[in-house]
Amino acid sequence: MSHTDQRPLKSQAANDLRGTIQVPGDKSISHRALMFSAMAIGQSSITGLLEAEDVINTAKAMAALGATVERYNDPEKGGIWKVSGLGVGGFNQPHDIIDFGNSGTGVRLCAGLVATCPITVKFTGDDSLRSRPMKRITDPLRLFGTQIDTLEGEMLPMRIKGAVNATPVQYTLPVASAQVKSAVLLAGLNAPGTTSVFEPEATRDHTEKMLQAFGAKISVEETDDGRLISVEGQHELTACDVIVPGDPSSAAFAIVAGVITKGSHITIENILLNPTRVGLIDTLIEMGADITIINDTVSGGERLGDVVVKSSLLKGVTVPAERAPSMIDEYPVLAIAAAFASGTTRMEGIGELRVKECDRLAVVCDGLKANAIAVRSGPDWMEVDGAGNEAVQGGGFVKTAMDHRIAMSFMVLGLCTQEPVTVDDGNIIATSFPEFEDLMNGLGCKISETERLQ
Ligand code: S3P
Repeated sequence: MSHTDQRPLKSQAANDLRGTIQVPGDKSISHRALMFSAMAIGQSSITGLLEAEDVINTAKAMAALGATVERYNDPEKGGIWKVSGLGVGGFNQPHDIIDFGNSGTGVRLCAGLVATCPITVKFTGDDSLRSRPMKRITDPLRLFGTQIDTLEGEMLPMRIKGAVNATPVQYTLPVASAQVKSAVLLAGLNAPGTTSVFEPEATRDHTEKMLQAFGAKISVEETDDGRLISVEGQHELTACDVIVPGDPSSAAFAIVAGVITKGSHITIENILLNPTRVGLIDTLIEMGADITIINDTVSGGERLGDVVVKSSLLKGVTVPAERAPSMIDEYPVLAIAAAFASGTTRMEGIGELRVKECDRLAVVCDGLKANAIAVRSGPDWMEVDGAGNEAVQGGGFVKTAMDHRIAMSFMVLGLCTQEPVTVDDGNIIATSFPEFEDLMNGLGCKISETERLQ
């Protein structure tokens, strides 16, 4: 979908949110399931895949690289994706430039996948993705012997000529980024010998876990200073069946909505609770939120459970920098929760927010100010003054800057403000959570299209 047509959305005050919902499949796991299946020998089957634009672009990319990607409809389970892979290093030369739309994960992981294959590919994306930094992956991928040309500033579009006799790489992450870690490990899959990545701060570990399930020779060593992940290259992957659990980053909007509105009681079923992803839940509980986990279980090597949320009175806290990787996508919606807490919430070590789908630090601050919420920020921190028992005026018009999570976060804000909150574009939500409006309105939210343009 192109996002040239904007569809403004408005959110109005709502209380007593009730119900049990399931949110779509985890985005990180969905991208990886498609990519690893496309590299494996045999046919993999993926159930619960997130069928949103970002992931569909990855499915198209895998097909463009020669994998067979098919979707079947199961009346009970919904879409089942069958992917027949080409083997490690087996991707074909695509005919056209590959467009990843809005997805940083899609393009950065796929760059790793092709970096050690004997093909030349060109990648691009939408305006948001074309303004995001690629140097964080082009630097380590060039160490394999890969030739990469980009525009000035190491941004998309880029052309990657895969290394034919790749050199394995030992790399220490300069930024806490699972995308960079994954790009290097995926390139290492077709380099002879051992490629390793050292991460001083733990980031989401879906690549390691899922590569293991696909039969890769991968090891993870925990040390006092961080984690060392090593992969032995040029071993085949074997097809695997993947069941994708609900995305905690999508559940986050319903969780915060349930906490900040009055009289609410919501259950969100089957959510991924991997410890590298639950920083928001930990933080909200620390702030006083009534959140419990039931039906806690382990499936496919991942912890899952149902999250039960009730209306709560929150207090401001300091969120330490060490927690940032486990909730990096959840700061915009945490800032909304913080606006209703008593006292100030300070978020530290969040400089990475500046290079997400937009500069989330700046855009969240602008959006809060437009709704009469006091906020201060620095290069890598933000402080939100909560209203406590006082009313929050709202009534603001928020520019989403092509960022799905900004649009959804500010729709959650409007549930508790005196005047409705408007965002300039609801279409962008389709990149990660096309069911957002229906699911939230099903709980009792009042989110609707509006004419208001500014
Ligand atoms: C992701 C990693 C995170 C996150 C993104 C998904 C992944 O990015 O923000 O939405 O699936 O690996 P970074 O690794 O750059 O922090």
